Amino acid sequence: MKIKEKASTGYLKYELKNFEKLPVKIWEDSVEASRHVARSVALAIRQRQQDGEHIVLGLATGSTPIKVYEELVRLHKEEGLSFQNVISFNLDEYYPMPKEAQQSYWRFMHEYLFDHVDILPENIHIPDGTLPMEKIADYCEEYEKLIDLAGGIDIQLLGIGRTGHIGFNEPGAWETSPTRMVRLDHLTRHDASKDFQSGDDVPYRAITMGVGSIFKARTVYLMAWGQHKARIIQQAIEGEITTSVPASFLQKHPNVKVVLDKSAAEELTKMKSPWLAGICNWTDDLICKAVVWLSQKTGKPILKLTDEDYNEHGLSDLIIEQANSY
Ligand code: GLP
Repeated sequence: MKIKEKASTGYLKYELKNFEKLPVKIWEDSVEASRHVARSVALAIRQRQQDGEHIVLGLATGSTPIKVYEELVRLHKEEGLSFQNVISFNLDEYYPMPKEAQQSYWRFMHEYLFDHVDILPENIHIPDGTLPMEKIADYCEEYEKLIDLAGGIDIQLLGIGRTGHIGFNEPGAWETSPTRMVRLDHLTRHDASKDFQSGDDVPYRAITMGVGSIFKARTVYLMAWGQHKARIIQQAIEGEITTSVPASFLQKHPNVKVVLDKSAAEELTKMKSPWLAGICNWTDDLICKAVVWLSQKTGKPILKLTDEDYNEHGLSDLIIEQANSY
């Protein structure tokens, strides 16, 4: 797996190796990261305005995009960013869900964004959680058509659930899935229960844009903050493409930007075991971390580790470093 080359010193040297199958940008914290995303969205809105054209935004809910919306509101209020040329499509909504309910995504979007900017109400689209069941299939088909009629989504904002869901596309969702009614995963309902009176009040279903609908967006920002997202982010970005982690389908999209804070990036190889990625600035802490890692990996006590163990697990640089320091 590892690519080795003979350096001029004669030592075997590990080249930089990229484990990430999507471009990732890691920020010190989620505030900085959110500002970066908001500025990119604002730039795209303004560019379209200059050309006299509209822009189609795919919007997400959950705690992740809140600071992006706050920054967009600030840009509107303090820097004159207009939303008059914006057409929006939201990813999902619980089902059933009255619009005015505390937990509705309709309410969320108005509270965090729409009520504070000059977007035209007729340009806002949020899946309707109030329709009778028998009308849902036609409604979902219509939602897809409306996106297409608007010219397709230019920028799609996404969070990620701990199940690896995007929108409400839970494990098992297929790659070309369209907007449709879905059942929520147990873990998703558990995570959502903080917003409801009790876990039992979390709806069992939702209407969501599909993986296929999301895939049609021209640019996708996948955002994640916090350590609780680190494991699923690693799987989505470094793992195999699998329906068990629907976000991993994004690896096939030509223009996805993953935006993380440091905690959400913790499980990425370059952060967790940077020696495997070939980018090591050997501090005492990192040396300890690497040696413990090697001991666990080989199942050997630290004092029994051999040069071969170090070499075979991408830690030859460490032996060289230590040898040079004596
Ligand atoms: C919900 C939303 C998703 C969102 C996810 C993550 O399930 N339907 O679109 O990405 O939550 O939530 P949070 O951003 O609060 O972690």
